[in-house]
Formats: sequence, structure tokens, C-alpha cells
Amino acid sequence: MTDIVVSSSRSPHSNTRRVADAIAEALNAQVVTPHELTQDMIDTADRVGFGSGIYWFGFDRQLGDAIDRFPAGSRDCFVFGTSGLPEPPFRRYTAQLGRRLEERGFRVVGTFICRGLDTWGPFGLIGGINKGRPSSADLEHARDFAASLMS
Ligand SMILES: Cc1cc2nc3c(=O)[nH]c(=O)nc-3n(C[C@H](O)[C@H](O)[C@H](O)COP(=O)(O)O)c2cc1C
Repeated sequence: MTDIVVSSSRSPHSNTRRVADAIAEALNAQVVTPHELTQDMIDTADRVGFGSGIYWFGFDRQLGDAIDRFPAGSRDCFVFGTSGLPEPPFRRYTAQLGRRLEERGFRVVGTFICRGLDTWGPFGLIGGINKGRPSSADLEHARDFAASLMS
């Protein structure tokens, strides 16, 4: 399998990039930003991973823009991300991204989300929440997730 991992990190901590690197290492895949993603990369990949931090109750807009930028085509994909808090029931952003991907012909074959250090807004005043995350255990789970995609 040839995988491409598209990862966007907006916070200064690059939490999602660390998860992307762990997944990519396990898949022997290349990690690119949404801006670096090209049609040629998509055409030659069997599977594409899309991930970002969660900002204002959603995945990074640049990720969505990258998904919409290319002609629809049928292929497998997976979704990953890091967030300060668990996904709230009133804003199912993971399912929303999945629907958007499916509208573009992707089949979502897996999802991996974990906590990341969050110094956003008032959390910065107390040095952030989720200190030390993604932890080495989180990155191990990310690698396990990648291994489960291969089996
Ligand atoms: C501007 C901003 C908005 C955020 N909004 C949310 C949010 O709505 N929900 C949440 O759980 N975390 C939120 N966070 C926390 C990030 O999702 C979390 O720190 C994530 O790990 C950042 O990933 P990154 O380092 O790859 O950018 C926000 C962080 C920033 C900087």
C-alpha cells in the first residue's frame, strides 16, 4: 500500500504533526501539509490520511479546502487528530469531516483522535491542559492504529 498522510497543525505545539509522524512511520508514508498535497500524490496513493488539531469545534479549514480542491475519486482514507477536549455531542466534527470525505468519493476506513496539549485562551493562563500529550502511550496507540489499517 502507498499512503500519504496530510497533517495540519496550527498551535505552536505541533501535537497533530507528532501523531502524523508516528502513523507515517508505521505505514512508511510521507507526511505533507494541506498546501503541499498534489493531485499526483493522491493519484498514486492507495490510501490518504487527513488530520489536524481541532480549532473552534472543527478540523482545520485548510484540511477541508484540500479535500475539496481535487476532483472526486474513489479511494480509502483515514482521519486523525488531536484536541484539547473530547468531542462534544452537539458538534460531531469527526462525522462531519467523514461526510465531507465521502462526498468526494473517499471511503473512511479508520479514525484516531487523542488529546493534545491545549494552551488555547484561558487554558494558557494555567499553563495549558493535557500537559505532556500526545504522550509516548498516545503515539504508541497511533502506531497501533496504523498497524490495524494494514491488517
Ligand atoms: C485557536 C484554537 C482553537 C481551539 N479550539 C478547540 C476546540 O474547539 N475544541 C478542542 O477540543 N480543542 C481546541 N483547541 C485545542 C487544540 O485542538 C489542541 O491543542 C490540539 O492538540 C492542537 O493541535 P496542533 O498542535 O496540531 O495544532 C484549540 C486550540 C487553538 C489554538
